Amino acid sequence: MTMRCVDQIPLEELKGKRVLVRSDFNVPVAGGEVTDLFRIKQGWETVRYLSEGGAKVIIVSHIGRDPEESLEPVARAMKKFGPVVFIADLVGPAARGAVEAMREGDILLLENLRRDARETENDESFARELASLAELYVDDAFAAVHRAHASIVGVAKLLPAYAGLLVRDEIREIDAARDPAHPSLAILGGAKFETKAPLVKLLLEKYDNLFLTGALANDVFKARGLSTGRSLISKELPTADVLGSTRLLVPIDVTAQTSDGQARVKKPDEVGADDKVVDCGPDTVAMLAPYIAKAQFILWNGPTGVYEEGFNSYTHQIAELVAKAREGGAQVVIGGGDTIAAIEASGVLQERLGFLSTGGGAMLEYLLKGTLPGIAALQ
Ligand code: 3PG
Repeated sequence: MTMRCVDQIPLEELKGKRVLVRSDFNVPVAGGEVTDLFRIKQGWETVRYLSEGGAKVIIVSHIGRDPEESLEPVARAMKKFGPVVFIADLVGPAARGAVEAMREGDILLLENLRRDARETENDESFARELASLAELYVDDAFAAVHRAHASIVGVAKLLPAYAGLLVRDEIREIDAARDPAHPSLAILGGAKFETKAPLVKLLLEKYDNLFLTGALANDVFKARGLSTGRSLISKELPTADVLGSTRLLVPIDVTAQTSDGQARVKKPDEVGADDKVVDCGPDTVAMLAPYIAKAQFILWNGPTGVYEEGFNSYTHQIAELVAKAREGGAQVVIGGGDTIAAIEASGVLQERLGFLSTGGGAMLEYLLKGTLPGIAALQ
């Protein structure tokens, strides 16, 4: 069964209805201010659609892993997009009173779902309390659909349930990435090979080439018996089938930083005991360029370097090449908060890059499995 999308509800049915929207506004906050609006911007479309359709929009989300964290800074940031009222309550009298008083088109944001431990326990009583706030449920929290939590799977069983516009778009794009047009190129960076091993195998099957970069490339070097010095290495290393694949590409040069902070470009077999690999190098970008140029489909998750310490120049160069490939007609899907932050820090405009997924873990899991608890709950 396919899932129903919120824009399939006839507008006359939407008008005046209380709609519980599960968004993922789990965004970074520093000094009390939201520092990255990407998820809010992507999630706003559904909120706006509902509000303009005359619905009463009740948004719930989690933020962070500390239950004490508040969504109040998110509500302030959301005001850049439209009028939102923040209620520092979830299912108590303050929330209920505020919902009662709503008029058509109003938008409420309730407090962090994880303030109530029953959310992550997928407790049925909590799902019932949330569901009792509304008449319809819309799941637009793509980045959290891999979590079987009360607001994701529990409420979907209790109210007429629809996918939000963002969830619909994410699924369409990532479904395309699961069955890419050829020639295809996947770029996978980041760390923790042990969590990505099944995905690496899948990408080697489905894509014409897979470029492993970031700390995942260190794992390949280590598994091939090279010295990796002080570089970040995963708990598990790639196995012979991965290492021997003719589709696998890895950096042919790296940026290595010694403990005195000096960084130098080296060949992978020149990395010494005091070196820490922090990025790929210029020859790697040149090696990759023709693969990017000829690709009809490019999937990219994970920066090439430690961008938070400023090593993002090769991510930038690759982003430029990917933007050009897209301008030439390639379909591009990019995901992972780090990837988007690194690209943004590099100055390449998001608009030039194709589809940017809000999902980190959710995107990788959906790529691998083709379904997730929150998606199954909508079907
Ligand atoms: C994310 O940022 O990946 C999602 O918001 C899920 O957050 P979680 O890993 O804390 O469940």
